[in-house]
Amino acid sequence: MMMRVRQEGDDPLKVALLGSGIVGTQVAKLILDHGDDFAARIGRPLELVGIAVRDLTRPRDGLPTELFTDDAEALVARPGTDVVIELIGGIEPAKQLILSAIDHGASVVTANKALLAAHGDEIFDAAERAGVDVYYEAAVAGAIPIVRPLRESLVGDSIRMVMGIVNGTTNYILDKMTTEQTDYETALVQAQDLGYAEADPTADVEGFDAAAKAALLASLAFHTRVNGDQVHTEGITRIVQDDIRAAREVGCVVKLVAIANQLDDSQISVRVHPALIPLGHPLAAVSGAYNAIFVEADAAGRLMFLGPGAGGAPTASAVTGDLVTVARNRARGVAGPNQTIYNNLTVADMGAVQTRYFLRLRVVDEPGVLAAIATILARHGISVQTVLQTPASDTASRTAASAELSLMTHMAIESNLLACLSELKANPSVRSEVRFLRVEGM
Ligand code: NDP
Ligand code: HSE
Repeated sequence: MMMRVRQEGDDPLKVALLGSGIVGTQVAKLILDHGDDFAARIGRPLELVGIAVRDLTRPRDGLPTELFTDDAEALVARPGTDVVIELIGGIEPAKQLILSAIDHGASVVTANKALLAAHGDEIFDAAERAGVDVYYEAAVAGAIPIVRPLRESLVGDSIRMVMGIVNGTTNYILDKMTTEQTDYETALVQAQDLGYAEADPTADVEGFDAAAKAALLASLAFHTRVNGDQVHTEGITRIVQDDIRAAREVGCVVKLVAIANQLDDSQISVRVHPALIPLGHPLAAVSGAYNAIFVEADAAGRLMFLGPGAGGAPTASAVTGDLVTVARNRARGVAGPNQTIYNNLTVADMGAVQTRYFLRLRVVDEPGVLAAIATILARHGISVQTVLQTPASDTASRTAASAELSLMTHMAIESNLLACLSELKANPSVRSEVRFLRVEGM
């Protein structure tokens, strides 16, 4: 039999919800459907006092109509509100509403990575001064617990690297392009229909959503404030079926990865870009809208976190997890641990990054060309690990006797690689653009 810790006469903790879209609707349902369990876990009942939306005429999936308001400002300013859950998204009005909630003494739960990656310092500082919580587990990788593991469970360790797939929409698209040869546009529409994409899917496909998450992960892992605009960001819009095919030929898949790692005592690198991942690597098997994050720490070694990275119900699980935790703190009159930002590591320029590269180019198919290409690479300190040469597939190029070269390099410095690419492009034996993708996890 379940034990109830709730005492007769305990005042409910008042919860205001901002937003009832894909995530907000599921959060409202969980709060309303699991009230007794939440009360037992918190030690006080919760009362959902209002839900702010933009358009009051839209159908609301069976949620009580009397809870809805289109006046979000009045809802957050309501006296006695204990927790405000922000699920509107975007920068404004979300930022002013969160600051107003903090100003009125409420703790905050949010899934808004775009806002925290741009203005986290202002929001966390305001919360610290007010002695309230700002929790944001759902802002990174949907249902996967990763924010609190980094902030609390691993806070006694030294993290060296965090690498993962942190955007469900782009993983869904790349997976469909790889396994079903679905074209990019069709896969994007499917991801939107399934509720994975941001209101403006440019944030997903151009890598900005993953960059915001990478900034939050790097800030936690390296105790250094990292903003989204410090993250080197490339999306998946330039990936074509030919890249996926070529990757398969060398035993890899293409994934959008976010990587934050320590370069030396004073520098970290934080980047988001498509990369070739070897088929044997656990990240290669992460399918659909699933996310996965590797953490490498001095004492713990390698950890992997895996689960649904987007969608209403999975994200609502992370939001309500935060809600219960924040409400427990509230019931005991305490605030939980804040971010511990005490390091001032520099985010290195992308040129300083070292990784492996996969180059693909079409060249004149005649003696000496391969040697000339290898010489250019060598001049820039880039050593080739493997070369694959195939006759160019289209008829026009065959007549002109050209061949496709696929080269996998050993570790190289990005700035050297870029200088090498310029030289390759200018070489008369090179008959196409030189496509390059970074290779991770080898
Ligand atoms: P939706 O676009 O589905 O929902 C947004 C909600 O906010 C809607 O109910 C909308 O009202 C309301 N809203 C928008 N502007 C205002 C305003 N000015 N005043 C009051 N209400 C407003 O977004 P999601 O649920 O997908 O995302 C919410 C947050 O969760 C975002 O920060 C997103 O990045 C994050 N997130 C989303 C995930 C997902 O899989 N969808 C996963 C992880 C995080 P109306 O209904 O009237 O239009
Ligand atoms: N649009 C985001 C994604 C939602 O696709 O991962 C989860 O943050």
